[in-house]
Amino acid sequence: MKPLLWIAFFLTITLAVITTYAQQNKGTEHVSLYGGSWGAVPFPHHVHQRAVKACETCHDVFPQESGSIEALKVSGALEKKQVMDQQCRQCHREMKNKGLATGPTRCRTCHIKEEG
Ligand code: HEC
Ligand code: HEC
Ligand code: HEC
Repeated sequence: MKPLLWIAFFLTITLAVITTYAQQNKGTEHVSLYGGSWGAVPFPHHVHQRAVKACETCHDVFPQESGSIEALKVSGALEKKQVMDQQCRQCHREMKNKGLATGPTRCRTCHIKEEG
């Protein structure tokens, strides 16, 4: 039975390694979020992972998948501007009120309006 134990051992290690790498998928560094008529919202993802630390702060509401916010808005699981109001602006406002370095709170500093 010893060879079987070795196989089980190596399978366990392999799984652990795969799981670790899967957990290390931090997504792209810069994401461009759909911002409707106000124009796209550039989102520095890795800056936030360093500043916020806990992935769940944002990903409790939408999964770690590209385009997940828009998909949830289309399905009705998220309201339009819900992430914007309840995550982005709320966190930035609270930190700003505490005098901490944080991100933008005004429309035009988040949304990039295309010319023309
Ligand atoms: C401040 C909010 C926030 C935090 C914190 C955050 N994310 Fe994200 N993440 C986002 C947003 C916004 C998107 C883009 C969603 C979309 O495209 O609709 C995203 C997308 C992703 C994606 C898929 C898209 C891509 O870029 O490839 C992965 C993977 C991901 N996040 C992993 C993580 C991990 C791992 C952590 C923690 C270490 C984390 N995120 C922390 C906001 C956040
Ligand atoms: C901190 C960044 C930030 C600020 C400040 C901000 N927005 Fe947004 N806005 C976003 C993000 C991210 C989205 C996409 C996610 C969502 O809809 O919740 C968005 C989405 C939108 C949408 C599109 C909703 C849809 O699905 O059609 C509109 C319109 C909009 N914002 C208008 C505004 C206006 C007007 C202001 C100022 C009063 C403003 N935003 C301020 C980040 C921001
Ligand atoms: C839980 C708190 C939190 C949430 C949620 C959050 N942010 Fe931020 N944001 C920060 C902090 C903290 C910084 C400053 C990071 C730094 O300078 O190191 C920041 C910085 C930024 C910056 C400026 C980056 C730079 O290089 O100056 C932008 C743009 C931004 N956030 C957009 C967004 C958008 C869009 C969302 C929603 C999808 C969002 N943030 C959600 C905390 C948050």
